[in-house]
Amino acid sequence: MSDTRDNPLDDPTADPFEIAAAAADDIARLTGVEAHDIALTLGSGWGKAADLIGETTATIPATEVAGFSKPALEGHVGTLRSVLTPGGKRVLVIGARTHFYEGHGPRRVVHSVRTAAATGARTMVLTNGAGGIRHTWTPGQPVLISDHINLTGASPLEGATFIDLTDLYSMRLRDAARRIDPSLEEGVYCQFRGPQYETPAEVQMAKAIGGHIVGMSTALEAIAARQAGMEVLGFSLITNLAAGIQTTPLSHQEVLEAGREAEPRISALLAQVLAVL
Ligand code: HPA
Repeated sequence: MSDTRDNPLDDPTADPFEIAAAAADDIARLTGVEAHDIALTLGSGWGKAADLIGETTATIPATEVAGFSKPALEGHVGTLRSVLTPGGKRVLVIGARTHFYEGHGPRRVVHSVRTAAATGARTMVLTNGAGGIRHTWTPGQPVLISDHINLTGASPLEGATFIDLTDLYSMRLRDAARRIDPSLEEGVYCQFRGPQYETPAEVQMAKAIGGHIVGMSTALEAIAARQAGMEVLGFSLITNLAAGIQTTPLSHQEVLEAGREAEPRISALLAQVLAVL
């Protein structure tokens, strides 16, 4: 579904960081919260977490905020929420992800992350629903992202912007998550462009180059978060085994159903993890 309304990010002469700063001003005005500590992007299956991490003090439609696009997909809620945790932290919950496969370019994909940084957030928690390559994983299982392979051929960085991605998915934060749930496994996330699911041969390629998880989000956002100086924690919900690993065809419906079933459990886990960040 294309979004034909004007978006300031589509002007190549515009500065995406200025638009992110304007978006942060919109969020402060609309939520009444001057600054946030943590940002959390909710992927398929993770939606209930927002209700569990604390008290929602404001919910705003993302379309009211500079540079945000309409959600392209059922199951992707187009809202931003400000949540106050029992520990007194302010969490910006981003339920409005723009995917690279929508074709609007990396600037729009990472705008929510840059906006989160402009609101003051120093920690970026990225979640998604994804396919698992490891045979031992089962649909409904959450896994930590330990690293990524960016197969989109794109980058949110413009010009000669050399950013170190060692420890992109913070070991410190992964350890914190494992203290909450020692059974959490981890793997390398491969971001494909999509929107088609991978072929079995592409899944075998991902496996051969060191991947364990296949999906269509997160890597570009993580790069932008690191550029903004944020510490990143990534979680995938394994909604299905990847094409050819599972023998039955993949369907978006199946992905949504696995998300819905796992939602209460993984959201509770995420809320517990956020409480210690
Ligand atoms: N591949 C890519 N993206 C996905 C998958 C998958 O198998 N499952 C959920 N999102």
